[in-house]
Amino acid sequence: PLKLYATVKDFRDHRRALLKQSTNVGFIPTMGALHAGHLSLMRRAAHECEAVVVSIFVNPAQFAPTEDLDVYPRTLEADITAIENLNQELEKSDAKGRVESLFVPTVSEMYPSGIPQVEAEQRGAFVTVQPLASKLEGITRPHFFRGVATICTKLFNIVQPDRAYFGQKDVQQSVVLKRMVKDLHMSLEIQVCDTGREKDGLAMSSRNVYLGVKRRKVAPVLYKTLRAVEKAYWAQVDKGAKKVRTSSVLEAGLNVLDGAMGSDGVNWELEYLSLADPVELEELSEIDVREGAILSAALKMLPTSSEEAPVRLIDNIILKAA
Ligand code: PAJ
Repeated sequence: PLKLYATVKDFRDHRRALLKQSTNVGFIPTMGALHAGHLSLMRRAAHECEAVVVSIFVNPAQFAPTEDLDVYPRTLEADITAIENLNQELEKSDAKGRVESLFVPTVSEMYPSGIPQVEAEQRGAFVTVQPLASKLEGITRPHFFRGVATICTKLFNIVQPDRAYFGQKDVQQSVVLKRMVKDLHMSLEIQVCDTGREKDGLAMSSRNVYLGVKRRKVAPVLYKTLRAVEKAYWAQVDKGAKKVRTSSVLEAGLNVLDGAMGSDGVNWELEYLSLADPVELEELSEIDVREGAILSAALKMLPTSSEEAPVRLIDNIILKAA
């Protein structure tokens, strides 16, 4: 059965036993409210590793005071059931391993020097990855990647995985963490897995439950926007272009967004629609087709009634080198 650990000490005792058996360990850090996207990471890990460890921890250091820390969905029992069901599936498959343990620490366990609140005094050690953390998502969420890099460092130190699996859904997160692992000589490999999507294209996210019926119906507009840009990019590459001006291809996406604005009474603010270089995340005015680019966007869906709060959606497509 799935083993549960809530303290660093208990997990470390368990990890020592795995080490004695030279078991190769894959790790998936999450904030819970598990959906099929999270499960696809676990499935991939189970095909590549003998033992898979999952963590569930809603990390306060990556939420600004204005963000949704208090209401972030917490569904531990359903999460455990979802993992147990996945394990049953894995047992019948040719997977090497299964999810053998779940690490579910408390905030004080993870932050022994004090509970970190963004923009308040923060005590203890933190990890920053600059300037990557200040681009794209970092423009409106300047605290975010410091919180992510710090918690992942702590979790990597505790779990000591051979491989850790992340979703392309959060593409900047995977770029930041790969750089952190490289620069700090951390002894693990970062694997990035495809984005899991709903049938209509919307990228799965624990936050999609906030959308409500109306906004949920319109939300696939974000992926449609990205697909329009991607299509415009490949149209130019297929015609033999070696460099593609970003303004020309982004316009195709902006047209999709503008055309859909206000449908079903749903409105939004586009935070960014960006084409950036895949290594440094620098905004590009021109894509070198031999390098490719990361096409990403953040869209703030505005409330449709007084009961709703704004919901921020992110998504991306990697434009591969031609
Ligand atoms: P969370 O949003 O719970 O996501 C956990 C992992 O699942 C991340 O690697 C994320 O990229 C991946 N994921 C989320 N939605 C996905 C989807 N639709 N398809 C594929 N993968 C998806 O990301 C975090 O938590 C936190 O920042 C964390 C890394 C745990 C640090 O606190």
